Amino acid sequence: MRGIILAGGTGTRLHPLTKAVSKQLVPVYNKPMVYYPLATLMLAGIRDILVITTPDDQTPFRRLLGDGAQWGLKFSYAAQPSPDGLAQAFLIGEEFLRGEPCCLILGDNIFYGVGLPVMLREAATLTDGALVFGYQVAEPERFGVAGFDAAGNVTSIEEKPQNPKSKFAVTGLYFYDGSAPALAKTLKPSARGELEISDLNRLYLAKGKLKVRKLGRGYMWLDTGTYDSMVQASEFVRSVETRQNVMIACPEEIAFSQGYIDRAALIAHGNAMKQNSYGQYLLRLAEEAP
Ligand code: TTP
Repeated sequence: MRGIILAGGTGTRLHPLTKAVSKQLVPVYNKPMVYYPLATLMLAGIRDILVITTPDDQTPFRRLLGDGAQWGLKFSYAAQPSPDGLAQAFLIGEEFLRGEPCCLILGDNIFYGVGLPVMLREAATLTDGALVFGYQVAEPERFGVAGFDAAGNVTSIEEKPQNPKSKFAVTGLYFYDGSAPALAKTLKPSARGELEISDLNRLYLAKGKLKVRKLGRGYMWLDTGTYDSMVQASEFVRSVETRQNVMIACPEEIAFSQGYIDRAALIAHGNAMKQNSYGQYLLRLAEEAP
C-alpha cells in the first residue's frame, strides 16, 4: 500500500501564522505538524509516500523531509496549485499510486491511542473498497458525518450537515482500493468549488463498499486548524511525553522499532540533536534497546 499526505491548503484560520509558512510545518509542541500524520502512515507500515503541498511550500517540505532515506522511507513530492478539495489528491497522485491501494491522510490530523498501530496495520491490508474512521465529536456539523443503521453499518455520508445523523465525524484518514483515482475523476466540484472527499466516499457507499470504523474514547483525534486547537494539540502531546518520558510521532523511533534503520543510524540522528531533549531521547532509545 502507498501513502499520500495532503499538506496543501491555505490555512486561513491560522493567519497570520500561516501566511509565510505552511500550516503543516508549524510546531505541535516539539515537532512540525506533518510528523504526526507521517508517523501514522509509518505505523501502518507504509513506506512509499507522496507529499502534496502548495507550489510555494515544496522547498521547505523537501528541506524538512528530504527523500525519506534517513528514516528508511521514500518520499515523492507533488504540488497542488490551488486548494480545490481533498479528493483532488487522487488526480494529482494517480501516477504515483500505479493502481495500487492507498492511504490518504490530511497533513493536519493527529491520531493517538492504544491499539492504533495494530488497527492501522490491519487497515493497510485493504485491497477492495474503502475504509474510513468515525470519531465522536461535540460539533459534528463542522465535519463530514456518517450515519449508521441499527447494526452499525454506515448508511450515509454528509458533508457539514445542518442536522447531523450522528455525532460521528469522518476523520482525515482514508484507506482506498486501487479504483480511487478513477472514481475521483468522475466527481464534480461542490457548491464551494471543491472535489469533496465525502462525495468520493459516497461513491463507495453506493457500491456497498464503504466501511466506517468507529474510534472509541480511548483514541485521541485532533485537527489543528485553529489557534486553540493547535495549542490544545501541543498541550496534549506535551502532557503525554513529559509524564511518560516517551515521544509521540517520532519518525526516528518508529523507523528504528520497525527495523527500517539500525542502531548506528539512530545514534547519528540523536547526536545531530544531542543538545536538546529530542536528540537525547533518541540516544537513550539506542542505549536501552535490546
Ligand atoms: P482545511 O482545514 O479544510 O483547509 P486549510 O488547511 O486550507 O485551512 P483553512 O480552513 O484555515 O483555510 O484542510 C484540511 C487539510 O487538508 C489541511 O491539512 C490542508 C489540506 N488541504 C489540501 O491540502 N488541499 C485542499 O484542497 C484542501 C481543501 C485541504
